Amino acid sequence: MDTSRGHILIGITGGIAAYKTMTLIRLFKKNGYEVKVVATRHAMEFVTKTTVETLSQNPLYVDLFDHDEPYDVQHIALVDWADAMVVAPATANIIGKYAHGIADDLLSTILLACSKPVFIAPAMNDNMYAEPSVQLNITLLREKGCLIISPNDGFLACGTSGKGRMEEPEEIYEDVVQYLQGPKCLSGKKVMITAGPTYEPIDPVRFVGNRSSGLMGFALAEAAADMGAEVTLITGPTHLQTQNAHIHRVDVETAGEMYQQCMLVQENQDVMIMAAAVADYTPAAPAPEKIKKTDDELQLQLTKTKDILASIGKVKRDDQILVGFALETEHERENALKKLHNKNADMIVLNSLRDKGAGFGTPTNKVCMITKDEQTFESELKSKADIARDILNVVCNLTKQQ
Ligand code: CTP
Repeated sequence: MDTSRGHILIGITGGIAAYKTMTLIRLFKKNGYEVKVVATRHAMEFVTKTTVETLSQNPLYVDLFDHDEPYDVQHIALVDWADAMVVAPATANIIGKYAHGIADDLLSTILLACSKPVFIAPAMNDNMYAEPSVQLNITLLREKGCLIISPNDGFLACGTSGKGRMEEPEEIYEDVVQYLQGPKCLSGKKVMITAGPTYEPIDPVRFVGNRSSGLMGFALAEAAADMGAEVTLITGPTHLQTQNAHIHRVDVETAGEMYQQCMLVQENQDVMIMAAAVADYTPAAPAPEKIKKTDDELQLQLTKTKDILASIGKVKRDDQILVGFALETEHERENALKKLHNKNADMIVLNSLRDKGAGFGTPTNKVCMITKDEQTFESELKSKADIARDILNVVCNLTKQQ
Protein backbone atom coordinates (compact mmCIF):
# COMPACT_ATOMS: atom_id res chain seq x y z
CA MET A 1 0.00 0.00 0.00
CA ASP A 2 1.25 3.51 -0.83
CA THR A 3 1.52 5.37 2.46
CA SER A 4 3.29 8.46 1.10
CA ARG A 5 1.82 11.93 1.65
CA GLY A 6 1.80 12.52 -2.09
CA HIS A 7 3.66 12.14 -5.39
CA ILE A 8 5.86 15.00 -6.55
CA LEU A 9 7.30 15.09 -10.06
CA ILE A 10 10.28 17.44 -10.17
CA GLY A 11 11.60 18.87 -13.44
CA ILE A 12 15.18 20.14 -13.48
CA THR A 13 16.47 22.35 -16.28
CA GLY A 14 19.98 23.62 -17.02
CA GLY A 15 20.78 26.30 -14.50
CA ILE A 16 23.32 26.51 -11.70
CA ALA A 17 20.48 26.57 -9.14
CA ALA A 18 19.96 22.87 -10.00
CA TYR A 19 22.24 22.01 -7.09
CA LYS A 20 19.63 23.50 -4.72
CA THR A 21 17.01 21.19 -6.19
CA MET A 22 18.87 18.33 -4.47
CA THR A 23 17.82 19.90 -1.14
CA LEU A 24 14.25 20.21 -2.44
CA ILE A 25 14.15 16.49 -3.30
CA ARG A 26 15.53 15.71 0.16
CA LEU A 27 12.87 17.88 1.86
CA PHE A 28 10.01 16.13 0.08
CA LYS A 29 11.46 12.69 0.83
CA LYS A 30 12.16 13.51 4.48
CA ASN A 31 8.58 14.63 4.95
CA GLY A 32 7.04 11.50 3.51
CA TYR A 33 6.50 12.37 -0.20
CA GLU A 34 7.43 10.13 -3.12
CA VAL A 35 9.61 11.95 -5.64
CA LYS A 36 10.40 11.25 -9.29
CA VAL A 37 12.71 13.49 -11.29
CA VAL A 38 12.82 14.43 -14.97
CA ALA A 39 15.89 16.39 -16.06
CA THR A 40 16.75 18.02 -19.37
CA ARG A 41 20.04 17.16 -21.15
CA HIS A 42 21.43 20.56 -20.10
CA ALA A 43 20.44 19.96 -16.47
CA MET A 44 22.72 16.91 -16.51
CA GLU A 45 25.68 19.33 -16.81
CA PHE A 46 24.86 20.53 -13.28
CA VAL A 47 23.70 17.41 -11.39
CA THR A 48 24.53 13.73 -11.58
CA LYS A 49 22.24 10.78 -12.16
CA THR A 50 23.67 9.11 -9.04
CA THR A 51 22.89 12.07 -6.80
CA VAL A 52 19.34 12.43 -8.09
CA GLU A 53 18.60 8.69 -7.95
CA THR A 54 20.10 8.29 -4.48
CA LEU A 55 18.11 11.21 -3.07
CA SER A 56 14.82 10.42 -4.81
CA GLN A 57 15.20 6.64 -4.57
CA ASN A 58 13.72 6.40 -8.04
CA PRO A 59 15.19 6.22 -11.56
CA LEU A 60 16.00 9.56 -13.18
CA TYR A 61 14.20 10.27 -16.47
CA VAL A 62 16.00 12.26 -19.15
CA ASP A 63 15.12 11.12 -22.64
CA LEU A 64 11.82 10.30 -24.24
CA PHE A 65 12.99 6.90 -25.44
CA ASP A 66 15.67 5.72 -23.00
CA HIS A 67 13.72 3.67 -20.48
CA ASP A 68 14.01 -0.11 -20.09
CA GLU A 69 10.69 -0.42 -18.32
CA PRO A 70 7.89 -2.42 -19.97
CA TYR A 71 6.29 -0.39 -22.75
CA ASP A 72 4.31 2.41 -21.30
CA VAL A 73 3.64 5.86 -22.67
CA GLN A 74 6.17 7.21 -20.27
CA HIS A 75 5.31 10.90 -20.22
CA ILE A 76 1.65 10.05 -19.63
CA ALA A 77 2.51 7.48 -16.95
CA LEU A 78 4.59 10.04 -15.06
CA VAL A 79 1.85 12.67 -15.28
CA ASP A 80 -0.77 10.17 -14.05
CA TRP A 81 1.49 9.22 -11.13
CA ALA A 82 2.10 12.83 -10.01
CA ASP A 83 -0.07 14.87 -7.65
CA ALA A 84 1.91 17.99 -8.53
CA MET A 85 4.82 19.03 -10.73
CA VAL A 86 7.59 21.41 -9.76
CA VAL A 87 10.05 22.79 -12.32
CA ALA A 88 13.05 24.07 -10.37
CA PRO A 89 15.13 25.69 -11.64
CA ALA A 90 13.07 26.80 -14.64
CA THR A 91 15.21 28.45 -17.33
CA ALA A 92 13.94 31.07 -19.77
CA ASN A 93 14.04 28.28 -22.38
CA ILE A 94 11.62 25.87 -20.63
CA ILE A 95 9.34 28.78 -19.67
CA GLY A 96 9.25 29.88 -23.33
CA LYS A 97 8.65 26.35 -24.64
CA TYR A 98 5.89 25.61 -22.14
CA ALA A 99 4.20 28.98 -22.74
CA HIS A 100 4.09 28.34 -26.51
CA GLY A 101 3.29 24.63 -26.58
CA ILE A 102 6.65 23.30 -27.77
CA ALA A 103 7.43 19.70 -26.85
CA ASP A 104 10.88 18.62 -28.00
CA ASP A 105 12.17 16.58 -25.06
CA LEU A 106 10.75 14.55 -22.18
CA LEU A 107 10.28 17.41 -19.70
CA SER A 108 8.58 19.78 -22.18
CA THR A 109 6.37 16.92 -23.41
CA ILE A 110 5.35 16.05 -19.86
CA LEU A 111 4.52 19.67 -19.11
CA LEU A 112 2.13 19.84 -22.07
CA ALA A 113 0.47 16.59 -21.01
CA CYS A 114 0.15 17.65 -17.36
CA SER A 115 -3.26 18.47 -15.96
CA LYS A 116 -2.00 18.50 -12.35
CA PRO A 117 -0.86 21.65 -10.50
CA VAL A 118 2.44 22.90 -11.99
CA PHE A 119 4.83 25.05 -9.96
CA ILE A 120 7.49 26.98 -11.85
CA ALA A 121 10.52 28.37 -9.99
CA PRO A 122 12.40 30.58 -12.49
CA ALA A 123 16.15 31.05 -12.12
CA MET A 124 18.24 33.17 -14.49
CA ASN A 125 20.28 36.32 -14.89
CA ASP A 126 18.39 39.47 -13.79
CA ASN A 127 18.41 41.01 -17.28
CA MET A 128 17.06 37.81 -18.80
CA TYR A 129 14.34 37.67 -16.18
CA ALA A 130 13.34 41.30 -16.82
CA GLU A 131 13.40 40.84 -20.62
CA PRO A 132 9.87 41.55 -21.98
CA SER A 133 9.46 38.22 -23.83
CA VAL A 134 10.37 36.26 -20.69
CA GLN A 135 7.93 38.33 -18.64
CA LEU A 136 5.26 37.79 -21.29
CA ASN A 137 5.87 34.03 -21.20
CA ILE A 138 5.58 34.03 -17.41
CA THR A 139 2.27 35.90 -17.73
CA LEU A 140 1.08 33.30 -20.26
CA LEU A 141 1.98 30.51 -17.82
CA ARG A 142 0.09 32.28 -15.01
CA GLU A 143 -2.91 32.55 -17.30
CA LYS A 144 -2.67 28.80 -18.00
CA GLY A 145 -3.00 28.26 -14.23
CA CYS A 146 0.67 27.61 -13.38
CA LEU A 147 1.85 28.63 -9.95
CA ILE A 148 4.90 30.85 -10.38
CA ILE A 149 7.33 30.87 -7.46
CA SER A 150 9.00 34.23 -8.08
CA PRO A 151 12.78 34.45 -7.91
CA ASN A 152 14.58 36.49 -5.25
CA ASP A 153 16.77 39.52 -5.43
CA GLY A 154 20.33 38.60 -4.63
CA PHE A 155 23.76 37.50 -5.73
CA LEU A 156 23.66 35.68 -9.08
CA ALA A 157 26.05 33.04 -10.42
CA CYS A 158 27.02 35.38 -13.27
CA GLY A 159 28.65 37.69 -10.70
CA THR A 160 25.99 40.41 -10.67
CA SER A 161 23.21 41.00 -8.22
CA GLY A 162 19.50 41.34 -9.06
CA LYS A 163 16.14 39.58 -9.34
CA GLY A 164 16.63 36.14 -10.82
CA ARG A 165 17.90 33.95 -8.00
CA MET A 166 15.77 30.81 -7.58
CA GLU A 167 13.65 30.84 -4.41
CA GLU A 168 15.18 28.77 -1.58
CA PRO A 169 14.22 25.05 -1.55
CA GLU A 170 12.57 25.38 1.89
CA GLU A 171 10.22 28.09 0.55
CA ILE A 172 9.42 26.13 -2.61
CA TYR A 173 8.67 23.08 -0.45
CA GLU A 174 6.35 25.12 1.82
CA ASP A 175 4.47 26.62 -1.14
CA VAL A 176 3.85 23.21 -2.71
CA VAL A 177 2.86 21.50 0.54
CA GLN A 178 0.52 24.32 1.56
CA TYR A 179 -1.18 24.17 -1.82
CA LEU A 180 -1.56 20.37 -1.66
CA GLN A 181 -2.84 20.36 1.91
CA GLY A 182 -5.39 23.08 1.24
CA PRO A 183 -6.49 25.15 4.20
CA LYS A 184 -4.84 23.68 7.29
CA CYS A 185 -7.34 21.65 9.24
CA LEU A 186 -6.21 22.85 12.68
CA SER A 187 -5.92 26.52 11.72
CA GLY A 188 -7.14 28.72 14.54
CA LYS A 189 -7.53 25.73 16.88
CA LYS A 190 -5.94 25.53 20.32
CA VAL A 191 -4.39 22.16 21.05
CA MET A 192 -3.00 21.04 24.42
CA ILE A 193 -0.65 18.06 24.48
CA THR A 194 0.96 16.34 27.45
CA ALA A 195 4.24 14.51 26.91
CA GLY A 196 7.06 12.64 28.57
CA PRO A 197 7.36 10.97 31.96
CA THR A 198 6.78 12.48 35.38
CA TYR A 199 9.33 12.37 38.17
CA GLU A 200 7.86 11.88 41.65
CA PRO A 201 10.38 12.92 44.33
CA ILE A 202 11.41 10.53 47.09
CA ASP A 203 13.86 13.08 48.50
CA PRO A 204 15.75 16.04 46.93
CA VAL A 205 17.93 13.73 44.79
CA ARG A 206 15.82 10.63 44.08
CA PHE A 207 12.57 10.09 42.26
CA VAL A 208 10.12 7.47 41.01
CA GLY A 209 9.95 7.80 37.21
CA ASN A 210 9.30 5.83 34.04
CA ARG A 211 10.94 5.17 30.68
CA SER A 212 8.84 7.53 28.55
CA SER A 213 11.08 9.58 26.21
CA GLY A 214 8.46 12.19 25.24
CA LEU A 215 9.02 11.46 21.53
CA MET A 216 5.36 10.73 20.74
CA GLY A 217 4.04 13.85 22.52
CA PHE A 218 6.69 16.08 20.92
CA ALA A 219 5.92 14.62 17.47
CA LEU A 220 2.24 15.39 18.07
CA ALA A 221 3.08 18.97 19.08
CA GLU A 222 5.14 19.57 15.92
CA ALA A 223 2.53 17.97 13.66
CA ALA A 224 -0.34 19.94 15.26
CA ALA A 225 1.61 23.21 14.87
CA ASP A 226 2.37 22.30 11.22
CA MET A 227 -1.37 21.79 10.71
CA GLY A 228 -1.99 25.33 11.90
CA ALA A 229 -2.74 24.89 15.62
CA GLU A 230 -1.60 27.03 18.56
CA VAL A 231 -0.08 24.33 20.72
CA THR A 232 0.46 24.20 24.47
CA LEU A 233 2.88 21.38 25.22
CA ILE A 234 2.95 20.40 28.88
CA THR A 235 5.91 18.13 29.29
CA GLY A 236 7.64 16.14 31.98
CA PRO A 237 11.46 15.97 32.10
CA THR A 238 13.01 15.21 28.69
CA HIS A 239 16.01 16.39 26.69
CA LEU A 240 13.84 16.99 23.59
CA GLN A 241 13.57 20.42 21.94
CA THR A 242 10.64 21.96 20.10
CA GLN A 243 11.08 23.40 16.59
CA ASN A 244 7.87 25.20 15.63
CA ALA A 245 7.37 28.72 16.99
CA HIS A 246 3.66 27.99 17.48
CA ILE A 247 4.40 25.59 20.33
CA HIS A 248 4.21 27.09 23.81
CA ARG A 249 6.15 24.74 26.06
CA VAL A 250 5.46 24.35 29.76
CA ASP A 251 7.96 22.21 31.68
CA VAL A 252 6.78 20.30 34.74
CA GLU A 253 8.23 17.55 36.85
CA THR A 254 5.55 15.80 38.83
CA ALA A 255 2.08 14.42 38.08
CA GLY A 256 0.70 17.05 40.47
CA GLU A 257 2.36 19.90 38.54
CA MET A 258 1.18 18.46 35.23
CA TYR A 259 -2.37 18.25 36.59
CA GLN A 260 -2.26 21.90 37.72
CA GLN A 261 -0.92 23.21 34.40
CA CYS A 262 -3.46 21.19 32.39
CA MET A 263 -6.36 22.38 34.53
CA LEU A 264 -5.22 25.99 34.09
CA VAL A 265 -5.54 25.89 30.31
CA GLN A 266 -8.06 23.11 29.52
CA GLU A 267 -11.07 25.38 29.36
CA ASN A 268 -9.64 27.34 26.41
CA GLN A 269 -8.61 24.33 24.32
CA ASP A 270 -10.33 22.84 21.26
CA VAL A 271 -8.33 19.60 21.38
CA MET A 272 -6.49 17.92 24.27
CA ILE A 273 -4.19 14.97 23.73
CA MET A 274 -2.80 13.19 26.77
CA ALA A 275 0.34 11.45 25.55
CA ALA A 276 2.28 11.74 28.82
CA ALA A 277 3.12 8.68 30.88
CA VAL A 278 1.87 10.18 34.13
CA ALA A 279 2.80 8.42 37.36
CA ASP A 280 -0.25 6.76 38.91
CA TYR A 281 1.38 6.87 42.36
CA THR A 282 3.64 9.34 44.11
CA PRO A 283 5.63 9.11 47.38
CA ALA A 284 3.25 10.12 50.18
CA ALA A 285 5.79 12.22 52.08
CA PRO A 286 8.93 13.11 50.11
CA ALA A 287 11.82 13.61 52.54
CA PRO A 288 12.99 17.27 52.75
CA GLU A 289 16.63 16.12 53.08
CA LYS A 290 18.49 13.28 51.35
CA ILE A 291 17.53 9.95 52.95
CA LYS A 292 20.60 8.39 54.58
CA LYS A 293 21.29 4.68 54.18
CA THR A 294 20.70 2.60 57.34
CA ASP A 295 20.84 -1.11 58.11
CA ASP A 296 17.02 -1.28 58.01
CA GLU A 297 14.79 -1.92 55.01
CA LEU A 298 13.19 1.17 53.52
CA GLN A 299 9.43 1.23 52.96
CA LEU A 300 8.11 3.77 50.53
CA GLN A 301 4.50 4.78 51.05
CA LEU A 302 2.82 5.82 47.79
CA THR A 303 -0.44 7.67 47.32
CA LYS A 304 -2.52 7.92 44.16
CA THR A 305 -2.04 10.86 41.83
CA LYS A 306 -4.95 12.63 40.15
CA ASP A 307 -5.89 11.18 36.78
CA ILE A 308 -5.58 14.18 34.46
CA LEU A 309 -7.38 12.56 31.53
CA ALA A 310 -10.34 11.52 33.69
CA SER A 311 -10.46 14.93 35.42
CA ILE A 312 -10.65 16.75 32.09
CA GLY A 313 -13.18 14.17 30.85
CA LYS A 314 -15.46 15.20 33.74
CA VAL A 315 -15.46 18.91 32.90
CA LYS A 316 -14.99 19.01 29.15
CA ARG A 317 -17.60 20.55 26.88
CA ASP A 318 -19.10 18.78 23.85
CA ASP A 319 -17.18 21.06 21.50
CA GLN A 320 -13.82 19.93 22.94
CA ILE A 321 -12.03 16.81 21.69
CA LEU A 322 -10.22 14.73 24.31
CA VAL A 323 -7.74 12.04 23.30
CA GLY A 324 -6.14 9.54 25.69
CA PHE A 325 -3.44 6.95 25.24
CA ALA A 326 -3.54 3.40 26.53
CA LEU A 327 -0.84 0.83 26.89
CA GLU A 328 -2.30 -2.61 27.43
CA THR A 329 -0.67 -6.00 27.54
CA GLU A 330 -3.83 -8.14 27.50
CA HIS A 331 -7.46 -7.80 26.32
CA GLU A 332 -6.12 -4.72 24.53
CA ARG A 333 -9.23 -3.52 22.69
CA GLU A 334 -11.61 -4.33 25.55
CA ASN A 335 -9.47 -2.50 28.13
CA ALA A 336 -8.88 0.45 25.78
CA LEU A 337 -12.63 0.78 25.20
CA LYS A 338 -13.26 0.72 28.96
CA LYS A 339 -10.71 3.51 29.40
CA LEU A 340 -12.26 5.50 26.55
CA HIS A 341 -15.75 5.40 28.02
CA ASN A 342 -14.81 5.62 31.73
CA LYS A 343 -12.67 8.70 31.16
CA ASN A 344 -15.17 10.30 28.73
CA ALA A 345 -12.58 10.61 25.96
CA ASP A 346 -13.46 11.06 22.27
CA MET A 347 -10.67 8.81 21.11
CA ILE A 348 -8.14 6.45 22.62
CA VAL A 349 -4.81 5.62 21.02
CA LEU A 350 -3.80 2.09 21.84
CA ASN A 351 -0.05 1.57 21.93
CA SER A 352 1.14 -1.83 20.99
CA LEU A 353 3.84 -3.45 23.08
CA ARG A 354 3.72 -6.65 21.03
CA ASP A 355 5.42 -5.12 18.01
CA LYS A 356 9.14 -4.64 17.79
CA GLY A 357 9.93 -0.97 17.23
CA ALA A 358 6.78 0.30 18.98
CA GLY A 359 6.47 1.93 22.40
CA PHE A 360 8.82 3.66 24.82
CA GLY A 361 12.03 5.27 23.57
CA THR A 362 11.78 3.99 19.98
CA PRO A 363 11.65 6.44 17.03
CA THR A 364 8.83 4.38 15.51
CA ASN A 365 5.41 3.34 16.75
CA LYS A 366 2.37 1.29 15.78
CA VAL A 367 -1.00 2.26 17.13
CA CYS A 368 -4.68 1.52 16.91
CA MET A 369 -7.04 4.48 17.24
CA ILE A 370 -10.54 3.88 18.56
CA THR A 371 -13.11 6.68 18.51
CA LYS A 372 -16.00 6.92 20.96
CA ASP A 373 -18.41 5.56 18.36
CA GLU A 374 -15.99 2.59 18.27
CA GLN A 375 -14.60 3.15 14.79
CA THR A 376 -11.10 1.71 14.56
CA PHE A 377 -8.09 2.94 12.59
CA GLU A 378 -4.98 0.76 12.58
CA SER A 379 -1.59 2.21 11.68
CA GLU A 380 1.41 0.37 10.37
CA LEU A 381 4.79 0.56 12.11
CA LYS A 382 6.13 3.99 11.10
CA SER A 383 7.94 7.03 12.41
CA LYS A 384 6.36 8.82 15.36
CA ALA A 385 6.07 11.92 13.13
CA ASP A 386 3.91 9.93 10.68
CA ILE A 387 1.87 8.38 13.51
CA ALA A 388 1.33 11.90 14.91
CA ARG A 389 -0.07 13.05 11.55
CA ASP A 390 -2.35 9.98 11.37
CA ILE A 391 -3.69 10.69 14.87
CA LEU A 392 -4.27 14.37 14.04
CA ASN A 393 -6.00 13.51 10.76
CA VAL A 394 -8.54 11.46 12.73
CA VAL A 395 -8.83 14.33 15.24
CA CYS A 396 -9.47 16.74 12.32
CA ASN A 397 -12.31 14.52 11.13
CA LEU A 398 -13.76 14.48 14.66
CA THR A 399 -13.63 18.28 14.83
CA LYS A 400 -15.49 18.46 11.50
CA GLN A 401 -18.26 16.18 12.83
CA GLN A 402 -19.03 18.62 15.66
N1 CTP B 1 -3.21 9.65 32.50
C1 CTP B 1 -3.41 10.89 33.06
N2 CTP B 1 -3.17 11.08 34.38
C2 CTP B 1 -2.75 10.06 35.17
C3 CTP B 1 -2.53 8.80 34.59
C4 CTP B 1 -2.77 8.63 33.26
O1 CTP B 1 -3.80 11.81 32.36
N3 CTP B 1 -2.53 10.31 36.44
C5 CTP B 1 -3.50 9.48 31.09
C6 CTP B 1 -2.31 9.16 30.21
O2 CTP B 1 -1.69 10.32 29.73
C7 CTP B 1 -2.97 8.34 29.11
C8 CTP B 1 -4.14 7.65 29.77
O3 CTP B 1 -4.35 8.37 30.97
O4 CTP B 1 -3.49 9.19 28.11
C9 CTP B 1 -3.96 6.20 30.07
O5 CTP B 1 -2.98 5.97 30.99
P1 CTP B 1 -2.68 4.50 31.55
O6 CTP B 1 -1.61 4.65 32.53
O7 CTP B 1 -2.50 3.57 30.41
O8 CTP B 1 -4.05 4.10 32.17
P2 CTP B 1 -4.55 4.07 33.62
O9 CTP B 1 -5.82 4.80 33.63
O10 CTP B 1 -3.48 4.59 34.52
O11 CTP B 1 -4.89 2.57 33.85
P3 CTP B 1 -3.94 1.31 34.08
O12 CTP B 1 -2.62 1.85 34.61
O13 CTP B 1 -4.67 0.53 35.04
O14 CTP B 1 -3.81 0.67 32.75
